[in-house]
Amino acid sequence: MNLLDKFHHWRRKIRWNKQYKQGRWESLQSEKEAKRYETIIRMATEFGPENPSVLDIGSGDGVLTERFGADRYGYFLGVDFSKVSIEKAKAKNLKNAEFETADAITFQPKQKFDVIVFNEAFYYIHDSEKQNVLDRMLNSLTERGIIITSIYREGHGCWEYFKENENLNELAFETVTTDEKLRYWKIGAYVVSSG
Ligand SMILES: C[S@@+](CC[C@H](N)C(=O)[O-])C[C@H]1O[C@@H](n2cnc3c(N)ncnc32)[C@H](O)[C@@H]1O
Repeated sequence: MNLLDKFHHWRRKIRWNKQYKQGRWESLQSEKEAKRYETIIRMATEFGPENPSVLDIGSGDGVLTERFGADRYGYFLGVDFSKVSIEKAKAKNLKNAEFETADAITFQPKQKFDVIVFNEAFYYIHDSEKQNVLDRMLNSLTERGIIITSIYREGHGCWEYFKENENLNELAFETVTTDEKLRYWKIGAYVVSSG
């Protein structure tokens, strides 16, 4: 990122903190959004190992962790660059779960994970950094570990990183719809090709 991009990136972080403070993202806990989380969890359960270790990039205040439930994961790490969202997630005291304030652009996992999730977060990563972030996450997967990505509506400029990546095999790809025509998400699960 050039200096101007870095400045905008910093401003966006401040905006996220302000919005979490104002409670603007509490809507993510609504039943309208539930199907999206459920689909991610179903894919993780279907294609990942039992009781997986899960890394959630751009976790916000931990809604996915709550919906997953500690009986279905072994360990859960949520990472978000909004300190306010991470404080909210930590305050929930979720079992076997940790939350860390970190920027996806520089975050280097200290261990490998069975499931790595970009849940409504990949499109926020600056274009010049998307490939770096994805590659770093692919290197942080356990053997047969999977990546799950959820993107609101069409995800222009995002899906090609997964669909046209010759190192990835698509395990599933679904569109999650709601009663609102324009509120839908596409969710894909991927594994690194063997050989
Ligand atoms: C629409 S919210 C989704 C939150 C959560 N994944 C969910 O669906 O419940 C997008 C999240 O991405 C985070 N985010 C955006 N850019 C980020 C970055 N570069 N590094 C880490 N988190 C980022 C925001 O702070 C925000 O919490």
